[in-house]
Amino acid sequence: MSVRNVGILGTGSYVPERILSNADLEKLVDTSDEWIFSRTGMRERRIAAPEQATSDLCIAAGQRALEDAGVAASSIDLIILATVTPDQFVPATACFVQKALGLVNAGAIDINAACPGFVTALSLGAGMVESGRANHVLVIGGECMSRIANYQDRSNCILFGDGSGAVVLGAEARRGRILESVLGSDGTGVETMYIRAGGSRKAMTSEALAAQEDKLVIKGNEVYRFAVEKFRDLLEGQMSRNKLTPDDFGLVIPHQVNYRIIESALRRLEIPESKTFINLEKYGNTSGASVGIALDEARRGGRLVEDKYVSMLAFGAGLTWGSVLLRW
Ligand code: UT7
Repeated sequence: MSVRNVGILGTGSYVPERILSNADLEKLVDTSDEWIFSRTGMRERRIAAPEQATSDLCIAAGQRALEDAGVAASSIDLIILATVTPDQFVPATACFVQKALGLVNAGAIDINAACPGFVTALSLGAGMVESGRANHVLVIGGECMSRIANYQDRSNCILFGDGSGAVVLGAEARRGRILESVLGSDGTGVETMYIRAGGSRKAMTSEALAAQEDKLVIKGNEVYRFAVEKFRDLLEGQMSRNKLTPDDFGLVIPHQVNYRIIESALRRLEIPESKTFINLEKYGNTSGASVGIALDEARRGGRLVEDKYVSMLAFGAGLTWGSVLLRW
C-alpha cells in the first residue's frame, strides 16, 4: 500500500479567562506559592467558567485551527478528540464540536488516552491521512481538569488547569510533516491515577460522591519516577531511530507535567532548555490538551524552526505514553 505524506495545515488553542493563581490556592488548601513553584514550576492555571464544558474549549481551539489552516469546514473528514473530561458519557464530545463548527462531512470520535491524549490523537489522525482514508482530520485535545481535580487535596489540585489545543492535518501540508509516532501502555499501572466511580464498575452513588470518588486520585511520587524515565526513553528512542543529535531539534514539546521532571530528563540527554517549550507556569497541567496548546503557542510565537525536528512527548494515566516526531 502506498503511503502519503501528512503534515500540519493549521494550529489553534484556547484557554478560559479565569486564572487560579498559587495565591488563590493558598486560600483553599494548606500550601504556599513558594512550595508550588519550587516543586512544580507552576504559578497559575486557567479554569473554565461554570457554563463552559470541554466541548466549548475544543470548539474555540478547533475554530482557530480551521481558520489557520484555511480549509473549508466541509472538507474535514474526521474529528478525533482526546479527553478524560468529556461533556457527558454519550454522545462523544466530538459530536458537539462537529455541530458547532458545521463539519458536515466529518466522522466524530473521542479517545481517552489521558495525558498523551493529544499525541495519541495526532498519531491516529496522521495514519488516516497517510493511508488515504481521510484527507483532512481535525485533531483536538481538550480538558476541564478543574471538574475532576480534588480541591481538598493539596498535592492534587495545585497541578491542573483547563484548555484545548487543536491541529488540522492534511496530505498537502508544506510544514510539520509527521515522520513517526510511538504509542505505548502498561496496564499494571491502572492504580497509579484513576477516578473510582461513575463508570460500569462503580456507580456514582451519593456515598461515592461523599467519599470524593468522582475525583482524580494520583500517586504523585510514582508518576514522577515513571515520567522522568519515560520522557528520557521516548526522546532517546526518537534520536536513535532517526539518527538525530540534540542539534537537529528545533524544539522539544513535552507534556506540561512538572518543570522538575522536564528539566531532569532533558539535562540527561544534553538538550538545552532553550530548545524546550514550557508554558506550565501559566496553565499548569492540562492533561490531554497540554501538548496541543504548547504546539500552537510555539508556532504562533515563532518558536518552530524551519526544517528542524520537533519532538512531542507525553505520558500519563493507564499508564500510557506517546511521542510524535515531525519536521517543521
Ligand atoms: O500528568 C500526570 C499527572 N501528574 C502527576 O501525577 C504529577 C507528578 N508528580 C509531581 O509532580 C510531584 O510528585 C508532586 C508535585 C505531586 C509532589 O511533589 P514532590 O516533590 O514529589 O512532593 P512529595 O509528594 O514527596 O511531598 C513532599 C511533602 C509532603 O509532606 P511530608 O510528608 O514530607 O511532611 C507532602 O505532604 O510536601 C507535602 N505537600 C505539600 N506541601 C505544600 C504535598 N503537596 C503540597 C502542597 N503544598 N501543595
